[in-house]
Amino acid sequence: MVTIPNSCTALSCPTVPLSNGRNIPILGLGTSHVGGYSHEAVLCALQECGIRHIDTSKRNGCEEALGKAVVDSGVPREELWLTSKLWPLDYGYQSAKQACRDSCARLGVDYLDLYLMHWPDCMIPGASNHEVRAETWRALEELYDEGLCRAIGVSNFLIRHLNELKDRGGIVPHVNQVEFHPFQQPLELVEYCRKENIVFEGYCPLAKGQALTHPTIMALAQKYGRSASQICIRWSIQNGVVTIPKSTKPERVHENCQECGIRHIDTAKRYGCEEALGKAVVDSGVPREELWLTTKLWPGDYGYQSAKQACRDSCARLGVDYLDLYLMHWPDCMIPGASNHEVRAETWRALEELYDEGLCRAIGVSNFLIRHLNELKDRGGIVPHVNQVEFHPFQQPLELVEYCRKENIVFEGYCPLAKGQALTHPTIMALAQKYGHSASQICIRWSIQNGVVTIPKSTKPERVHENCQ
Ligand SMILES: NC(=O)c1ccc[n+]([C@@H]2O[C@H](COP(=O)([O-])OP(=O)(O)OC[C@H]3O[C@@H](n4cnc5c(N)ncnc54)[C@H](OP(=O)(O)O)[C@@H]3O)[C@@H](O)[C@H]2O)c1
Repeated sequence: MVTIPNSCTALSCPTVPLSNGRNIPILGLGTSHVGGYSHEAVLCALQECGIRHIDTSKRNGCEEALGKAVVDSGVPREELWLTSKLWPLDYGYQSAKQACRDSCARLGVDYLDLYLMHWPDCMIPGASNHEVRAETWRALEELYDEGLCRAIGVSNFLIRHLNELKDRGGIVPHVNQVEFHPFQQPLELVEYCRKENIVFEGYCPLAKGQALTHPTIMALAQKYGRSASQICIRWSIQNGVVTIPKSTKPERVHENCQECGIRHIDTAKRYGCEEALGKAVVDSGVPREELWLTTKLWPGDYGYQSAKQACRDSCARLGVDYLDLYLMHWPDCMIPGASNHEVRAETWRALEELYDEGLCRAIGVSNFLIRHLNELKDRGGIVPHVNQVEFHPFQQPLELVEYCRKENIVFEGYCPLAKGQALTHPTIMALAQKYGHSASQICIRWSIQNGVVTIPKSTKPERVHENCQ
C-alpha cells in the first residue's frame, strides 16, 4: 500500500507554459471510456489530491458526469484546466463549432481551457482529409479568438499533419496529445513539437496498465521504493511531457498523484548552508537525477577564474557533480574600483563555459533589471535561462516579467510571502478566508498562477506541507 502524502496538490503541481502564455498543469487525470467513468475517482482527484487538470473528450462519453463532478467538488472553475476533444465525425467548419458548444454545455462550462482535434483523419467517406482538417482548424481558430477555447490543439497528429497546418499559416497548435510511455516514444515528433513551440502531451502513460507488469519497470519500482505506475508517471513528467494517467480507483488516483512532489531546492553560497543541504539530499534518499538544485554565485567571487572556482566549490559543498541552475546573485560586482559592466561580462563568460562543460545544466542571473539583461543580450552568447527576482503581491515588476517572457528568460520569483509580511495583510487574509486556504497558500498560488517559478522558504515542516498545498 502506498502512503498518501499531502504534498501533491493543486499548488505544488508544476505547469508547462503554452506558446500563448497559458500554463497547463503537467499532471492531469484521464477519463477514457475504456474501463468506465468513476465519479468517486474524479472527486478524489479534485478534492483530496489537488489535481486541477482533467482530460476528456466527446468520445469518452462522460462530459456530463464530469461537469457534475466538478460542481460537486466545489473547486472553482477558474482553478481548473479542462481539456476536451472534437471527434472526427464532427469535423467541418460549422459542425466543429457546434460540437464545441455542445461539449461546453455538457460540461456545464462557458469555456474550455484546451480543445483538441482528436485525430488527423476525418473519417468522412469521400471527403478530402486535407481540406476537412483545414476548415476544422479554421473553426477552432475562431473558437479561440472568441474565447470559447483558451487554447487549441490537436491529438495523434504526425509531423506531416503539423507541417500541413504550419504551411497554411494561422495559429500553430498549442498542444499535440499523443500516446507516450516507455514502450511508445515518438522522439522525432517530441523534438519537432519542442522546436515548433507545441507542448507535447502524452496519453496512456501506463500503457493502459500494461507497463505495470513489465520486468524493467517493476525492477525500477523496487529500486526506488515506488509503485510501477509512479515510475511510469515520473518518467513521463521528467521528459517534460504533460501526463494524464487514468484510474477509476481513488487509492490509485492518490498513488498516481504522488509523483509531482517538491524536487526543486534553491540555495546560494551566501546562505551558508550548501554543505548541510547536500547532507539532507543524501539523507532524503531522493536520487540526484530527480532533483533540481539551484545555487548562486556571490559577487565577491565575480571574475572569470574566481567564478569558475566558486562553482566547483559550491558543487563540492553540495556533494554533487553538476548544478541544475547557477545564477549570478546580483548585478553589482561589489569590487571597489572595478567596472561593473566588464566584471559582469567576464563572469558571464565563465558561466557560459561552465554550461558548455556541463557543470551547470542551466545558467542565469538574479536581481537583474532590463538594462542588465539588455547588456548581456548585446554581448551575444547565451541568453540567461532564468532571472530570479523578488516577486509577491506588493512587489510586481511587471515590465521586467514581460521582458523576460518576450526574451524567453524564465522568471523566477523570490520572497513569495514578502518575508512573511504578506501573511497578515487584510486583503490576503480576506482571500484566504474566502477560498478556505491559508494566507501563505494564497500568496504561493497567486505567484504560480502568474506563471512564476516560486520558492517559499520555511524552517518548520508543518509549514512546508502547508506551502506545498
Ligand atoms: N487523444 C487520444 O486519442 C487519447 C487516447 C487514449 C487516451 N487518452 C487520454 O489519456 C488518458 C490516459 O490514457 P488511458 O486511460 O488510455 O491509459 P493509462 O492512463 O495509461 O492507463 C489506465 C489503466 O491503468 C490502470 N491504472 C491506473 N493507475 C493504476 C495504478 N496506480 N496501479 C495499477 N493500475 C492502474 C487503470 O485501471 P483502473 O481504472 O482500474 O485503476 C486503467 O486500466 C485517457 O484516460 C484519456 O483521457 C487520449
